[in-house]
Amino acid sequence: MKTDGNKKIISLHLRTHAFCVKMDNGYKEKIDLTKLPRHIAIIMDGNGRWAQEKGEDRLYGHYHGVNSVRSVVEGASELGIGYLTLYAFSTENWDRPMEEVTGLMELLVQTIRKEVPQLNKDNVRLKVIGDLSMLPPEAQREMNEALKETENNTGLTLVLALSYSSRWELEKAVQNIAMDIQNGKLNADDVNQSTLEKYLSTVDIPDPELMIRTGGEHRVSNFLLYQLAYTELYFTNDKWPDFDKEKLFKAVWEYQNRERRFGKTGEQIRNK
Ligand code: FPP
Repeated sequence: MKTDGNKKIISLHLRTHAFCVKMDNGYKEKIDLTKLPRHIAIIMDGNGRWAQEKGEDRLYGHYHGVNSVRSVVEGASELGIGYLTLYAFSTENWDRPMEEVTGLMELLVQTIRKEVPQLNKDNVRLKVIGDLSMLPPEAQREMNEALKETENNTGLTLVLALSYSSRWELEKAVQNIAMDIQNGKLNADDVNQSTLEKYLSTVDIPDPELMIRTGGEHRVSNFLLYQLAYTELYFTNDKWPDFDKEKLFKAVWEYQNRERRFGKTGEQIRNK
């Protein structure tokens, strides 16, 4: 990052925040609070390109991405959303240049350390899905502390997908099921979808009704593949650092204007 990066980040954060406060009056009013998605999942894409467009290095984009995280967590809490899952670091992201990986891990530790008091004020409970054992020891420690410090909160559950990928999760689930069958804890004939769901890292978390991907790409990138079976997908060209709660409200409003059929006909759904 450039040497005056921190100053720029602070001033930009203040400006972004003021802007969010001013803009927070459009789509929110249009949202039907009785038909909210219980769970929204987000692929936060576009940080690197956002930074590079500004002649900065990729980490600059990740730093700005934290403002968007703060804004959407605030927005989801304001609406009364139950679960918000953010794809913060995928299994595949370990293959990025070492400098970026190290920078992202440092950012994660800093952010968690700094934001936990606010999460507690906002009654937000933190959860993590993914292979935490892959994270550097300091990040593991920080995450575990944050999980403990927020475990009794009863508002929004913020799920961070860290060192997560769906194929990793399914592989683990199948291994654990096989082990439990071998140990006599489970009968192979009894294995069904509901058994499998108990072995996924999202056990006790409802499937997302809405999945948002920023950054202009139209794919799901190994994210919650099982859980997204009937999820409404929302793609936006906004790069993650340009996304905020007002844009989240717009996505929720658009979700509410879709017809969810779950394999049935439109007539069946409307005559219910
Ligand atoms: C994808 O953009 C983004 C990431 C891999 C990291 C997301 C991390 C943050 C938003 C900051 C930390 C988050 C938390 C929850 C503390 P990309 O780098 O793939 O962008 P590109 O497609 O433009 O290259």
